[in-house]
Amino acid sequence: MAPLIVYFSRAGENYVDGSIRELSVGNTEVAAKLLHQAVSGTLFRLEQKVPYSHSYRACVEQAKRDWQTGARPELAAWPEGGVAGYDPIYLAYPNYCGTLPMPVCTFLEHYDFSGKIICPLCTNEGSGMGRSAEDLARLCPGAVIGEGLSVRGAQAAQSGELIRRWAEGAPSKG
Ligand SMILES: Cc1cc2nc3c(=O)[nH]c(=O)nc-3n(C[C@H](O)[C@H](O)[C@H](O)COP(=O)(O)O)c2cc1C
Repeated sequence: MAPLIVYFSRAGENYVDGSIRELSVGNTEVAAKLLHQAVSGTLFRLEQKVPYSHSYRACVEQAKRDWQTGARPELAAWPEGGVAGYDPIYLAYPNYCGTLPMPVCTFLEHYDFSGKIICPLCTNEGSGMGRSAEDLARLCPGAVIGEGLSVRGAQAAQSGELIRRWAEGAPSKG
């Protein structure tokens, strides 16, 4: 089966190496596109119907509130035909509040991933994968969760080789 790369990423103001900067492309999008170059397959971006704020501080407040209330923000679109025809599934996301962003949970709860391989790639500002791999396993019972890759957000553009080697070592059914 062909791989699916699903990613969530936010352009706009972000906190990078100690100061707020404007990013025209989000870090995870950069990493997901490098991963796509390495493994091909289908690239799909998760987008909310109502995106988080462009302002970094407002976004942190929104994302924290969603996390605290266990919200499942509505998505603007879903992969055509769902996920049944894909394996493995690479899931790329930023670490938000120590775990997965809640819109990623909306996606994960929508499908049955049992029997599928899911390989998580998490960009972050220093907390690594946080609790995201455990939360992913809980949300996708019966899936095989491959070893995660943590990518420092500010280093995403320089991480092509790291990402390629990680993808080569990902579990497969072949
Ligand atoms: C709402 C929010 C919460 C965040 N929480 C964390 C965190 O808990 N730990 C961490 O290391 N980085 C955290 N970050 C930093 C992001 O994980 C990091 O900048 C990531 O690369 C952003 O990816 P993106 O540009 O694709 O959205 C947070 C950023 C935002 C906007």
